[in-house]
Formats: sequence, C-alpha cells, structure tokens
Amino acid sequence: MCIKNTLKKWGGVSQLFHWGMFLLLVINYLLAYTMMDMAPTDDKWWLYGMHKQIGVTLLLLFAFRLWWRMQNPVPQDLPTVPHWQNRAAQWNIWILYTLLFLFPLSGLSMSVLGGHAVSYFGLFTIPPLMEGNNPISRFAHEAHEIFSYILGAFVTLHILAALYHHFILKDSILRRMLPRYQSLD
Ligand code: HEM
Ligand code: HEM
Repeated sequence: MCIKNTLKKWGGVSQLFHWGMFLLLVINYLLAYTMMDMAPTDDKWWLYGMHKQIGVTLLLLFAFRLWWRMQNPVPQDLPTVPHWQNRAAQWNIWILYTLLFLFPLSGLSMSVLGGHAVSYFGLFTIPPLMEGNNPISRFAHEAHEIFSYILGAFVTLHILAALYHHFILKDSILRRMLPRYQSLD
C-alpha cells in the first residue's frame, strides 16, 4: 500500500489516522458515559484519567493529521457525484476537523482551568492554570458536552453519506479509504 495519498485514493498514513482516530473517539465516548455513571471509587478516577489521556492523544493526533493532509494531494472528487454533494461533503469534512480540535480542547480547558492537573501517561503533566470551580471552567464543561452532541450529529451524517455511496451509488468513495483498494490508473 502506498504511504502517501494520490489523486485517486487515500494513502496508508491518512487511512491510519482516519480509522485509528475513529476507534479512539468511540473508546472515549464509551469511557465518558461509563465513568460519569460510576460511584466515586478509585476505579472511577482511573477511568477519568484514561479518558483525559486518550483525549490529549486525540488532540496531538489532530495536529499531525492536519499537517500530513497539507503535505499530500487530496483524492479528487468523482465526476459521477453531483457538484452540490461534493461541496456538502467538503463542508462536512472541515466541520469535522474543527470539532476534532475544539472538542478535546474544551475537555482539557475544563480540567486545567478548573484546578485539575492532567498527567499524560507519566511522560508530562499539564499543571492547573486556574483555581477550582469558576465560570470559565464551567463554560468549557458546557462546551464539552455540547460538542459531544454536535460531533455525534456530523459523524452520523458523514457515515450515512459513506454508506449511501457504497451501497446505493456503488462508487469508490468508501473503498478508496480502505486498505487494498487498487484504482484503475
Ligand atoms: C476528542 C476527545 C474526547 C472525547 C470524544 C470526549 C468525550 C466526552 C463525552 C461524550 C463526555 C460526556 C459529556 C456529557 O454528557 O456531560 C465527556 C466528559 C468529560 N470529559 Fe471528555 N472527551 C474528549 C476529550 C477530553 C479531554 C482532553 C479531557 C481532559 C483532559 C476530557 C475531560 C472530560 C471530563 C473531566 C468529563 C466529565 C465531566 C463530568 O464529570 O461531568 N475530555 N467527554
Ligand atoms: C469519528 C468519526 C469520523 C470522523 C471524525 C471522520 C472524519 C473524516 C475526515 C476529516 C475525512 C477527510 C479525510 C482526511 O483528511 O483524513 C474523512 C474521510 C472519509 N471518511 Fe470519515 N470520519 C469518521 C468516521 C467515518 C466512518 C465510520 C466512515 C465509514 C462508514 C467514514 C468514511 C469516510 C470516507 C469514505 C472518507 C473519504 C471521503 C472521500 O474520499 O472523499 N468515516 N473522514
């Protein structure tokens, strides 16, 4: 498999970012709803720590992913897809990128601006930047919850569009984001 993108398909690194971050996002949603429902035990706080560390990982991966996208060609729109659908898909992708940045950033802000240090797998610790519960950390907390719904909505649209291309239009949009796809050029 080619590491870099071509004008016909996504390369191995872009695919790894796409599917790896998808997996981590699913894990972090599951961790969030599990940890918030638990009684205050050591296990609960351990899950909070894991959620934060995976969240910071996603923030770091976002930066590398964006950088990698800028180093590479982006597969061209298919001529069989109507212009408005290609534009809608582009908009959705840039909204997803914005959320992939703001969502973990709001979580990190909620923690460090709310008096909590965030340790990252023992490698480094981000110290608290403000004291305890305050209006800014409460705002970040609200934002984190709202972003979780907005990301869920846009990802659902994005997944439905991918499945529509694959099963109804039967074009190569989904296959070119999967390993082992050979474009006919
Ligand atoms: C993209 C990565 C992330 C995802 C997908 C994610 C997802 C979520 C979700 C779905 C919730 C539940 C929201 C609610 O309904 O109230 C939540 C809560 C929470 N998140 Fe994240 N999060 C991410 C990143 C982070 C980061 C980086 C931090 C901190 C460093 C963080 C800290 C928290 C905390 C402390 C809560 C619990 C709030 C409470 O107890 O009410 N999250 N997260
Ligand atoms: C958290 C979930 C997801 C996010 C945030 C996301 C985000 C993105 C982004 C930003 C791109 C642009 C390519 C890039 O720059 O890497 C993309 C492309 C793509 N995604 Fe997703 N994605 C998610 C889940 C999925 C799922 C579950 C599917 C399949 C059912 C899917 C199918 C695709 C396809 C087919 C493309 C390529 C579109 C094209 O070639 O024009 N995505 N996705």
